[in-house]
Amino acid sequence: MKILVTGGAGFIGSHVVEHFQGQAEVIVLDNFRSGHRRNLAGLQHTLIEGSILDRAKLDEAMRGVDQVYHLAAMISVPESMLKPRECVDLNATGTLHVLEAAEAAKVRKVVLASSAAVYGDNPNVPKVETMLPEPKSPYAVTKLDGEYYLELFRRERGLATTSLRFFNVFGPRQDPKSPYAAAVPIFIEKAVRGEPIGIFGDGEQTRDFIYVKDIVGALTFAAANSEMGGVFNVGYGRKMTVKSLAEEVIRLTGSPSVIEHKPDRPGDIKHSMASSDKLQQAGWQPRHSVAEGLAATVAYFKSLKA
Ligand SMILES: NC(=O)c1ccc[n+]([C@@H]2O[C@H](COP(=O)([O-])OP(=O)(O)OC[C@H]3O[C@@H](n4cnc5c(N)ncnc54)[C@H](O)[C@@H]3O)[C@@H](O)[C@H]2O)c1
Repeated sequence: MKILVTGGAGFIGSHVVEHFQGQAEVIVLDNFRSGHRRNLAGLQHTLIEGSILDRAKLDEAMRGVDQVYHLAAMISVPESMLKPRECVDLNATGTLHVLEAAEAAKVRKVVLASSAAVYGDNPNVPKVETMLPEPKSPYAVTKLDGEYYLELFRRERGLATTSLRFFNVFGPRQDPKSPYAAAVPIFIEKAVRGEPIGIFGDGEQTRDFIYVKDIVGALTFAAANSEMGGVFNVGYGRKMTVKSLAEEVIRLTGSPSVIEHKPDRPGDIKHSMASSDKLQQAGWQPRHSVAEGLAATVAYFKSLKA
């Protein structure tokens, strides 16, 4: 088998590459917009350095490929607010390019990394796929565009596709240094250094954190099922407060760090939690837990410091 991972030098993409070691020939197409070469260190793969917006590169990357994991994107909500046009280029037009190239190459399955951001700030939890999308940023609008294009190619052109709406993914290799870094790697990095951990507001806001290995499990499950089309949430269906996340990170690292409360961040939603019933009914099961994932992630960040 041969697979293509767009955005394979990124956090989640590198875990897909790792999963397929010894199982498939792996092609990575990445332009290092937010990914890093170090994420692929020691992993067997063929790197094609370039953008999903470059059709020639995409055609080269797609040759003979069975499954496409389309993860390359502008990944940040705040960045998309600052650069909406670039976001549309990368996430909407880029996805259309990937679909056209996949169709031309007669790929068996395309899976898109979509996002819980499409639910916007609808206060109802858990989120179910039948809720009306309420995208509040170019990032969310363009992830939704991608989902619609995948469905269009599935219905009209017979290309097998699935979109997965990831909730808050965490794990080793997630970048704490990006200006738009997520809570888990920032908290762990601060804790490992013994620096104060800042949280917005009272910290009682909740998120459905999911360990990256279960995201890889969902991606590979969807890719292996050519009949499985449409949109599926991927989360644990559990909520964890941001404050308890910080406390757990402090406990796991044995850190002297203290929690500092910062003003509420305008526009932040209070609660986000997935219903993954649809994906579970299709046959996917998570194999890990937040606790296990946090322990592995802490061990990874500690090993970087050593
Ligand atoms: N991390 C999360 O919690 C989360 C949640 C929901 C959805 N997602 C989605 O999952 C996917 C992977 O996210 P991640 O967290 O691994 O981020 P990441 O930044 O680590 O990975 C994205 C990768 O795409 C690459 N890329 C960007 N533009 C490109 C282009 N034009 N051509 C080729 N490569 C390009 C980047 O260099 C990077 O390696 C993204 O589509 C993101 O929107 C992530």
